[in-house]
Amino acid sequence: MDGKVKSVWRAACLMGGLCIWGIAVDPAPGRAAVESGSLSKMIFGKTPDGTPVELYVLKNGQITVKVMTYGAIITEIDTPDRNGKERDVVLGFDSLEGYLGKHPYFGATVGRVANRIAKGKFTLNGQEYTLAVNDGPNTLHGGLKGFDKVIWKAEPIDHPDGPSIKLTRRSPDGEEGYPGNLDVGVQFTVTEQNELKIEYTATTDKATPINLSNHSYFNLAGRTTEPVLGHELMLAADHYTPVDETLIPTGEIAPVTGTPLDFTKPTDIGARIKEFKVEPTGYDHNFVLNSGGKSLALAGRVYEPKTGRVMELSTTEPGVQFYTGNFLDGTITGKDGIAYRKHHAFCLEAQHYPDSIHHANFPSAVLEPGKTYTQTTVYKFSTR
Ligand code: GLA
Repeated sequence: MDGKVKSVWRAACLMGGLCIWGIAVDPAPGRAAVESGSLSKMIFGKTPDGTPVELYVLKNGQITVKVMTYGAIITEIDTPDRNGKERDVVLGFDSLEGYLGKHPYFGATVGRVANRIAKGKFTLNGQEYTLAVNDGPNTLHGGLKGFDKVIWKAEPIDHPDGPSIKLTRRSPDGEEGYPGNLDVGVQFTVTEQNELKIEYTATTDKATPINLSNHSYFNLAGRTTEPVLGHELMLAADHYTPVDETLIPTGEIAPVTGTPLDFTKPTDIGARIKEFKVEPTGYDHNFVLNSGGKSLALAGRVYEPKTGRVMELSTTEPGVQFYTGNFLDGTITGKDGIAYRKHHAFCLEAQHYPDSIHHANFPSAVLEPGKTYTQTTVYKFSTR
């Protein structure tokens, strides 16, 4: 955007209804003032205890992103195909009720620790902590009531790149068994370059494991009954972390060469998926990004040939869990009454490696008091 954002102004806000913010910008020298993007708010529904859930609609460039205060969940991403037809490219539900029911983290912010912790136990600074076990013998995605199942506080933010909303909450000491009061912020910004930028921050008063990620399920063809096997994927990852039968890393960092995990050159997701023999078959692997997670770098690119949609993922994280919706079995009916079946979508969850707390050779996923955790992930949409 040329020029600087002057202010986020709120044009209207009706009780329980629609609020609209516009973004006023100072023109770049010699240019007329332009308006870049919009941010509006509505009530999506109420939780069983009567708490209203807000839904924010961020529009900029050619994309629209909807985020709600329950679970800091992305409910919708609308982006045009190569003919300009806008379609929603993420799985989810038409109303809040679906999200309040059992579902596999559609669009959710996952934490305090995304992915798995072996046997729901870890030792930190000499103390043993016990977590709820909710995935076979392990803890998955923060436990029984993780960050995906709580109400966040939302605040519009004056951001130079476009409409922006910051969701915050304190995860109290002992929540789901984790140590320390953790103050978390997740900021969603939609830029004129058709990017959704997610910036996470956290501070704590006791050392704690932390691993925050977003669990959006993408199908770049739009709302469809077709699986994603024809999407072409590139991952900037020469290595991955092999796992045991409960999906806990063995600790090894293995090359992808010669395996169905080699996406260093663009390859159809479905090209080698039949090589997996253990049910539910498909990809559910952590890839070790070549960037090492030191600064924001391209992690992957997905191309859907029928619609021409392209999604690029950049992240500051060292890993990405590539998951092909293997556990979707048609029992969940989502938007437009579509039953979500196996391989209906893919997730690219930018994060630290699974079970990092038990592997000294993995990048540390422990936050110490006095330090600030940060994680930035950008999804950029275009067409080809
Ligand atoms: C992650 C895991 C998968 C699965 C999904 C949720 O992607 O790696 O094994 O648990 O979350 O269903």
